[in-house]
Amino acid sequence: MRNALQVAGALLAATIGQASAQSDDAIARGEYLARASNCVACHSVPGGQAFAGGLKMATPIGAIYVTNITPDKEHGIGSYSVDDFDKAVRYGVAKDGHRLYPAMPYPSYSKMTRADVEAMYAFFMNGVPAASVPNKPSEIPSPLNMRWPLAIWNVLFVDLDEYEPDAGQSEAWNRGAYLVQGAGHCGACHTPRGLAWNEAALDDSDDDFLSGAMLDHWSASNLRQDNAAGLGRWSQDDIAEYLKTGHNQFGTAYGTMVEVINNSTQYLTGDDMAAVATYLKSLPGVRSNDLDYAYDGATTEALLDRKLDQPGALTYVQHCKHCHADNGMGYGTFLPSLAGNTSTLDPDPSSLINITLNGSGRLVVEGLPDSYRMPPFRVLLNDQQIADVVSFIRSGWGNTAGKVSAEQVKLVRSETSPASERIEILKMK
Ligand code: HEC
Ligand code: HEC
Ligand code: HEC
Repeated sequence: MRNALQVAGALLAATIGQASAQSDDAIARGEYLARASNCVACHSVPGGQAFAGGLKMATPIGAIYVTNITPDKEHGIGSYSVDDFDKAVRYGVAKDGHRLYPAMPYPSYSKMTRADVEAMYAFFMNGVPAASVPNKPSEIPSPLNMRWPLAIWNVLFVDLDEYEPDAGQSEAWNRGAYLVQGAGHCGACHTPRGLAWNEAALDDSDDDFLSGAMLDHWSASNLRQDNAAGLGRWSQDDIAEYLKTGHNQFGTAYGTMVEVINNSTQYLTGDDMAAVATYLKSLPGVRSNDLDYAYDGATTEALLDRKLDQPGALTYVQHCKHCHADNGMGYGTFLPSLAGNTSTLDPDPSSLINITLNGSGRLVVEGLPDSYRMPPFRVLLNDQQIADVVSFIRSGWGNTAGKVSAEQVKLVRSETSPASERIEILKMK
């Protein structure tokens, strides 16, 4: 009898041990996937409780506030079953049946597997502390705030289907495609949107996919293989280094890409980072007027000889050259080169105007904030001076992007504000 009980007890302990080991595993996997999906960047505010919501997001029809997705029963998703959670994340429908605005990137998340969504559910239910923080109503005016037209929008624009591996491609390529199209929702910023705010493409079957787009006055660059303003000159290792650290020989992350690196891509495993790079390197270029970049030393000579008659040259010497250098090549990977930089060659000047007006938030990688940060010049320089210095950069050192007007600067100035000086790290639990 004693023996039988002992055996039963030991068996029970072993089963419980195994069950909790399994769910710890699922929770850890779910946490990793939540990182790769960057849920935290939208569902939290700096200084607030993780995932308690409250971030204001602009949409073309008015601002909305991101919701509380902690396991709080009253204000969060504590009463969501795994099926409710799946419906919200992959199909854009909340538990009470209302349609979510596509500011929640469910059109991308729909590519994720059910197993991955279940792991994320395990993390949100067991790894995230509940926060009793009520949701704020949207500022979208009536009747535009009716949600049923979103069902039609879904039918017209979104293909809510799980990612299907391409048997003709390698395992790494398929993993990269899965992460980029799905969890990473890279296209939410990097793919142009149509008239109804729909992404022009959700996968690589269309050349618009990741071909560059402007959102919130930042141009999320072309990630295809164009040479000048795309990733054609970047090796796989350059891409992985950038996603890991925010820096490489070609540039430094700034604007909205900072929150992607700070909260998401730096946490990817080496294999996943390499997979993303493999996939991006496979997307052919799309710009018919793509050029090879070649450095031209004439700008450097003019600056060193104090020939500053070109508009913008004097401003560059007074305000920019101590960080970006006479030769436009910056210093190391921390003060980025402006010569041949993919952002500098971007046909859309939004990012250059924005960063010169407002500076950039600070990269925080492995807990260490970057020592350098691009300062804001909105007070020191007027619209014409910024237009001139940005035009100077875009045509100096062999760069071949177009001129920028004071009107373009004026518009961005009126709709943006200086980047926060705070060092912002979002917690996940
Ligand atoms: C780009 C911003 C963004 C990201 C990234 C994002 N969300 Fe959301 N999410 C939103 C917004 C905005 C809403 C509210 C939409 C609305 O009110 O129609 C929302 C709503 C939700 C809801 C519905 C909650 C409710 O009852 O209101 C759930 C669940 C959710 N998100 C989970 C997630 C998870 C899990 C992730 C990561 C896998 C994620 N979200 C990533 C913006 C985002
Ligand atoms: C919230 C918007 C947003 C999301 C989501 C986003 N990006 Fe970006 N990304 C940007 C912006 C804006 C830039 C341009 C600023 C810069 O170069 O740092 C950029 C730049 C980049 C660059 C540098 C390109 C260059 O030519 O300098 C790479 C590489 C990149 N993103 C990859 C990704 C990948 C991979 C994903 C998905 C895992 C992703 N991004 C998701 C906004 C975003
Ligand atoms: C104190 C040093 C400093 C000064 C001065 C400075 N910058 Fe920067 N700049 C940076 C840093 C650092 C970055 C990288 C983004 C970041 O980390 O904030 C950057 C990024 C940029 C970029 C984006 C390049 C890329 O990585 O793709 C442009 C364009 C730029 N600066 C233009 C200017 C202009 C124009 C001026 C003068 C009006 C100027 N900078 C003055 C430090 C500086």
